[in-house]
Amino acid sequence: MSFPFISAEEAASHIHNGDNVGTSGFTASGTPKLVTVALAEKARQLHEKGEPFKVNLYTGASTNDYVDGALTRADAIGQRMPYQGTPCTREAANDGRINYYDPHLSHVSQDMRYGFVGDLDVAIIEVTEMNPEGEVILGAGLGMSPTLVQMAKKVIIEYSSYYRTSFRGFHDNYVPLDPPRRREIPIYKPSDRIGDTILRIDPAKIIGVVPSNESESIRSFTSLNDTTRAIGANVAEFLAAEMRAGKIPPEFLPIQSGVGNVANAALYGLAENPQIPAFQMFTEVVQDAVMDLMQQGKCTFASTCALAFSDQAMLRFMDDIDFYRDKLLMRPGEISNHPEVVRRLGLIAMNTALECDIYGFVNSTHVDGTYMMNGIGGSGDFCRNAALSIFLCPSVQKGGRISAIVPMVSHVDHTDHDVKIIVTEQGVADMRGMAPRQRAEMIIENCVHPDYKEIMRDYLKISSSGHIGHNLKAAFALHMAYMEHGDMRMVDFGKFV
Ligand code: COA
Repeated sequence: MSFPFISAEEAASHIHNGDNVGTSGFTASGTPKLVTVALAEKARQLHEKGEPFKVNLYTGASTNDYVDGALTRADAIGQRMPYQGTPCTREAANDGRINYYDPHLSHVSQDMRYGFVGDLDVAIIEVTEMNPEGEVILGAGLGMSPTLVQMAKKVIIEYSSYYRTSFRGFHDNYVPLDPPRRREIPIYKPSDRIGDTILRIDPAKIIGVVPSNESESIRSFTSLNDTTRAIGANVAEFLAAEMRAGKIPPEFLPIQSGVGNVANAALYGLAENPQIPAFQMFTEVVQDAVMDLMQQGKCTFASTCALAFSDQAMLRFMDDIDFYRDKLLMRPGEISNHPEVVRRLGLIAMNTALECDIYGFVNSTHVDGTYMMNGIGGSGDFCRNAALSIFLCPSVQKGGRISAIVPMVSHVDHTDHDVKIIVTEQGVADMRGMAPRQRAEMIIENCVHPDYKEIMRDYLKISSSGHIGHNLKAAFALHMAYMEHGDMRMVDFGKFV
């Protein structure tokens, strides 16, 4: 069977108001780049005529401006799941124009197969190779494509010729059986392959093929600064001490590293510490740092869901692709983040917090408990199940006007039952085996910025007794001081005594 080449506009004409639409990719990597833009234009034209047009958008994780950006600006998204990171989508999620639902990334594919969001009308899948039998090689992000093509009534292919070297061999397409027939996920080390390089799509579902030549459009990371470098060095020293104490085996444990500038810096910290041996990764995204670590021989293998390389790094990757062929494997987000495998492999999970509190609770998502930043992503999948769950953050934000360590987090994503270690540029708080009051003292001494140490000690003095001592009237006094005076240091506990 041969499939017709069609324009992005024709592809978009097959998508209707109210449709459930799923896209390939994970972060910007492997997402469609043309059909979603044409779909946004279709929505805009219909809106001008006074006709409604919105789709419900389901993706592996965050996307990019071609998907979330274009569709949000056209007011074309109704329901949206999961993680997003595009500024205008964030705004729309916060002001209620988009109904944004933020589950753990390992849950999304199975929630869809379980029918929690209804049928899937259309899947838009970027591929880098395909044959007339509907067998395809995906691109730089695997996301939840295997589940989407299984469920979708119609499939639109975006055939990317941007990748001038073959991606064949980098994917591990796998869909677990659903309960009550599910078996174990047979991954016993990061490099174990359990699925297929090829993804098979029922040819009868394929509407047509849209040729594309767009890059992922990922910008390079902010370069390291003194703060992120110190966080990276603190993590590395802590892990080296764990090894010396025999709590991490000599061959080390696989690393999971979260998204963003701080996580990227932490990996460089591991690279720079000579006491940290070469390691493997079992993670959901590999960013630019991992390429450098592989070149240095520090990272020998990475299981991931996406190659979230900046455009510059992707060009370097393609130039040297054969070097990476036996060092990288992309899996569906359901598997890259699978709690069963995370627990079995005994990961060292390093994720970034917006704020932590003095008892070890972590807020990864909501500024001031209300404003959604990005979403929980895979941080919960990894945090609860890892051998060592580490949260990283600079001790202060916005030039010192915000303390990232507060008396009580304004939103809880990760609880003190799961979070084991907090690291800032000031130091490390290892909370394993510590009661809440011991944790509070340790976090204040080791992690809080000097400007805020006395403030936190004062908070403890006005807190109640009990297992987790709080003063409920004053628990958010630092947040209130920032809202009222633009600086948490202006807090006055006097009125709460
Ligand atoms: N209050 C207000 N703003 C805060 C803040 C706080 N407590 N903490 C951070 N911010 C702001 C920063 O000032 C910065 O703002 P800017 O863009 O205006 O400069 C922004 O949030 C990003 O902070 P930064 O320190 O650069 O961190 P980052 O790029 O490493 O991102 C998270 C941090 C928490 C936003 C990001 O890691 C995230 O979304 N995590 C949740 C999902 C996750 O962990 N996924 C990984 C699983 S594999």
